[in-house]
Amino acid sequence: MKHPALSGPDRRRPLIVGNWKMCASWSQLRELHAIAKAARSHPNVDVAICPPTVLLDAAIRQAAGLRIGAQDCHQEIDGPFTGATSPRLLRETGADLVIIGHSERRHGLGETDDLVRAKARTAMQEGLIAIVCVGETAAQREAEEASLVVCDQVLNSLPIGATADRLVVAYEPVWAIGSGRTPAIASIAQMTTAIRAALAHVVSPGAAAATRILYGGSASAENARDILAAPNVDGLLVGTASLSAATFMPLIESGAPYRARLP
Ligand code: PGA
Repeated sequence: MKHPALSGPDRRRPLIVGNWKMCASWSQLRELHAIAKAARSHPNVDVAICPPTVLLDAAIRQAAGLRIGAQDCHQEIDGPFTGATSPRLLRETGADLVIIGHSERRHGLGETDDLVRAKARTAMQEGLIAIVCVGETAAQREAEEASLVVCDQVLNSLPIGATADRLVVAYEPVWAIGSGRTPAIASIAQMTTAIRAALAHVVSPGAAAATRILYGGSASAENARDILAAPNVDGLLVGTASLSAATFMPLIESGAPYRARLP
């Protein structure tokens, strides 16, 4: 199924993305049918699932109506890079988007801002939507450096001149991921608003106003509505709660009341 790009009047309609990380097996694909059905019944919400690379092709075949994405890609389109995944091949397989610079790669695997920017640039050139992750650690938040760190990541890891139809930014406080803890709504709003302001220095002000900013980190059925109501939050990047249709569907429904927020 061919998905429309994110440009046009609906470009900031809610986007709910499930990141299955390395937590999914073949049997997980059974969840896609119900998730796709929920997505079809909420046509004003864009829904995507990012399964492990090995499951991408099968997921794409089974998930009519869902956007399917990858969790990472290489910064080159081909070459002698053992174990790496080409963004071109992802696109040819039918993937629509790719998560870049997740904190589990930045902190766990040492990915730098430069590398994240290079990956995002190539992914976008190949026609994928790049979901670029930024977020502070607990120590940085305690030192009251969260805003500074996150805005620096925006300035240094997003491709200059990127357009809103190919770029999504995900604000994911590292300490909130998988912890069951989330920042106060006011704090999320403060950070996403700062991210949009920083973004205007990297892309045009018009593109910054039109780019979707997601929140990620222990998003759940309990907190999704409040988070989505915050200014400058246009969707969610969801780990644990995306692993089953039963826990993910309420998050899709949470996006339904929010129409596109036009710049
Ligand atoms: P979580 O993961 O929802 O399990 O906190 C979010 C993420 O890492 O993207």
